[in-house]
Amino acid sequence: MSVTVGVIGLGAMGSAIAIRLTQAGFDVIGIDLLEIERLERALERHPRLAERVFTEAERDYAAAVAILETADARDKAESSRALAAAWRDGGLTEIGTARPPDRPARQSRPPLVRPGEVPRRRLGRSRESRVALFHALAHIELNAIDLAWDMVARFAGNPDLARGFHDDWVAVAAEEARHFTLLSDHLHRLGASYGDLPAHDGLWQAAAATAHDPLARLARLAVVPLVLEARGLDVLPDMIARVAAAGDRDGAAALEIVYRDEIGHVGTGRRWFDHLCSCRGLPPETTWRALVRTHFKGEVKPPFNAAARRAAGFLPAYYAGFSKQTADST
Ligand SMILES: [Fe+2]
Ligand SMILES: [Fe+2]
Repeated sequence: MSVTVGVIGLGAMGSAIAIRLTQAGFDVIGIDLLEIERLERALERHPRLAERVFTEAERDYAAAVAILETADARDKAESSRALAAAWRDGGLTEIGTARPPDRPARQSRPPLVRPGEVPRRRLGRSRESRVALFHALAHIELNAIDLAWDMVARFAGNPDLARGFHDDWVAVAAEEARHFTLLSDHLHRLGASYGDLPAHDGLWQAAAATAHDPLARLARLAVVPLVLEARGLDVLPDMIARVAAAGDRDGAAALEIVYRDEIGHVGTGRRWFDHLCSCRGLPPETTWRALVRTHFKGEVKPPFNAAARRAAGFLPAYYAGFSKQTADST
């Protein structure tokens, strides 16, 4: 019969004890989420222990990672809102520092296809065209939930980032979860469900390109809130007007909520981007341009919604006249 032993605290002594126990044939569950890098170095030499430690730690202690590993979209949204409420109320003070997965878990539907393979329909008055629109938007919001939790989990423990960083991105995660729920509820009103149509993985891939950069936190902030979510501000007003013109008041009202919240998300991204730049003595505007050139494959194209961007504190000095091809002279 195998015996499982828990070792709490994996510093110099605890790691040595855990390794000895493993070598003696015990199943060891090691728990020390505060010194993950030191633990990783010790575990590189002992893969069997590594497997046990990370499986147990991720499942039991890292709330953000647990949500990334939740496949069911409704469950992901509901647990995001519950976790954010616990965080806000002070019942939960540690998100944990388990490593986020390279890819979040996904339910079996919708099928994921390449970006060009998602059927495009021009938004008109037909129910089908609105189902296609709201399905695509719900999928974006689902990715946005994971991106917010990934931001929390991947960048935990950074000394430049106070608890305020977590407060902000936990709040963003809760709002993305609300957006997903609003849009998938609207799909139900239209007689459809999230999962009915194919979707693409481009948003996650764009973000994943920033996961391993030496300036990873800055790169992630440059691309996710300040390119992808800022693009949402550019396109949403026209989308809301078209949905309203099709007589879909509930759909337009849901998108109004999304639009208002997304101004806040761009603002949160810009504030933390500027903060990290100032910690490193970097000029924010040219740093943003350099990071977008390196890490974002697509184009940053006008027309820009300058008023909404300005409301988020994201001024034209960052993006006006920006070209991926032309390096800045400054
Ligand atoms: Fe959103
Ligand atoms: Fe957002």
